[in-house]
Amino acid sequence: MLTARFFRQLRGVNPFGGEIVPTRVRLLGFGRPSLPFPHILNYREPIRILDTFFWKVDGQTGPGRHNRYLDVPGMDCVLVTREPAVIRAVLSDTGDKPGQFDRDTAPSTGIARATGEDSLLYANGPLWRRQKLLAAPSFSRTNLFQPEKFGEFEQTFRKTVHQRLELLYERQRAAGRAVSRVRLEPEIGVVMLEMLVNNFFGGSVSYEDLRDRHIPSLVGLIDHMVRDTVGRRLRAPFGIFGRNARLKRARADFEALADIALSGRRDGRGLWAQFKSDAPDAALRSNIRVFLAGALEATTSFASWALSHLSRDRAIQDRLYAEVKEVDVYEPENLAKAAMLHRVLEETLRLTPSLYFLPRRTTADTRVETADGRTLLVPRDTHVVLDVWHANRCEEFWGAEATGYPAETFAPDRWDVLAQKGRSSRELMHFGFGHGPRVCPGKFLGLLEVALVVGAFVKLFTFTAVNERVEARAGVSTKPADGVWVDLSLR
Ligand code: HEM
Repeated sequence: MLTARFFRQLRGVNPFGGEIVPTRVRLLGFGRPSLPFPHILNYREPIRILDTFFWKVDGQTGPGRHNRYLDVPGMDCVLVTREPAVIRAVLSDTGDKPGQFDRDTAPSTGIARATGEDSLLYANGPLWRRQKLLAAPSFSRTNLFQPEKFGEFEQTFRKTVHQRLELLYERQRAAGRAVSRVRLEPEIGVVMLEMLVNNFFGGSVSYEDLRDRHIPSLVGLIDHMVRDTVGRRLRAPFGIFGRNARLKRARADFEALADIALSGRRDGRGLWAQFKSDAPDAALRSNIRVFLAGALEATTSFASWALSHLSRDRAIQDRLYAEVKEVDVYEPENLAKAAMLHRVLEETLRLTPSLYFLPRRTTADTRVETADGRTLLVPRDTHVVLDVWHANRCEEFWGAEATGYPAETFAPDRWDVLAQKGRSSRELMHFGFGHGPRVCPGKFLGLLEVALVVGAFVKLFTFTAVNERVEARAGVSTKPADGVWVDLSLR
């Protein structure tokens, strides 16, 4: 079997079948953005690695321009797709039934070493199903948005956001300058962690402790997760003097935070009051770690990108202000009415998705069928990279002809054009929260947090990007590389 595969790889035989025929990416090629796999020099630029798969394909016809594979001796076969119909079909067919796709754990081994292998994020098969039943309902729309609970919950979130933004507001006023230059990402990170630890899990960690101890520890640990994933695969010596002591401290801080989050359970604080399970704390711990690190990372990414895009478009910022200036309570009906805010958030996730690719793996020879009836046969043990970043930026799917605006432009009004054309978001998906059985369980919580931060920020400040353009920095999630560097003024 292995020998047959080796000879097939040597001869360059296409291992895929069906109507959607992927085309081969060669290992070497002159002038390409990068090598088509992570190594010691390019692992910090994963989007460039994915760029390589779609380098110079735009003039081509046929499904091979959106579906590309790498199949070289000594490596598992990799399929990278940016075709929304294929992405959707694979996501729908991911789960614990025989022959369904698994989430590919290879890109997150470092995360698992830091959070535990039995978490909802990392587990596959029956263990994933058990974790989903245990943890996901706490974040569900029905649970979070129960009318009698939601008001109280939304109020504590809103209070936290206002307190932090007031602090920024006072700092600005005290400085006596009309404009000051700040990086917003660190401020956003603290607010997000505070909402999660204190409001959601019912902890009581001070703002200073979160800002000065826990955020630096978590940021260091998340960075370590990325290095650890690639480093072990390449057996590369990534450690430098002093890093181990810092890492030990970061791990200890992370455990302390998980203890605080779990301690609310005993007294039914925060959203624990609605958590009904007799599972012991130890069984919940890896999920708590994933929620702490993952939710901080994803919500900070999402809110940072939203503010970064708005800082480059004053007209949209003002239109958003006109809409939110009278909104004081972010109840589901108010959120539903805030059409501009909604469009800004959708467009942010489309253009700059926090999770830029979704990893899958076949456990058997697998037949994928798209909604329009086309098929793709994927051999067993293939790493399938659902490249959401490139799908959402592909002119063919999201460009002027289909949506009224170029795909690479931040244009919240494109969602109006789509609505006028009668195209629903079910039909045209950006996969910002994934799709199918492994869709993000924190979607409603995350959306509420980000809507609160972005809405409250626009109410208090006007802000203009320092740099005309910004690149994406990609690790576990994507973030604006300049840390959302803006000139800030009071409204
Ligand atoms: C608002 C920002 C967020 C974004 C953009 C986001 C995005 C995503 C995406 C795209 C996935 C699917 C991954 C895949 O299919 O491979 C996912 C899964 C997941 N998310 Fe989120 N997420 C966010 C917030 C949160 C929050 C607040 C939590 C929890 C507190 C959370 C917990 C999870 C977990 C546990 C999974 C794995 C679910 C499973 O595999 O069954 N996320 N997220």
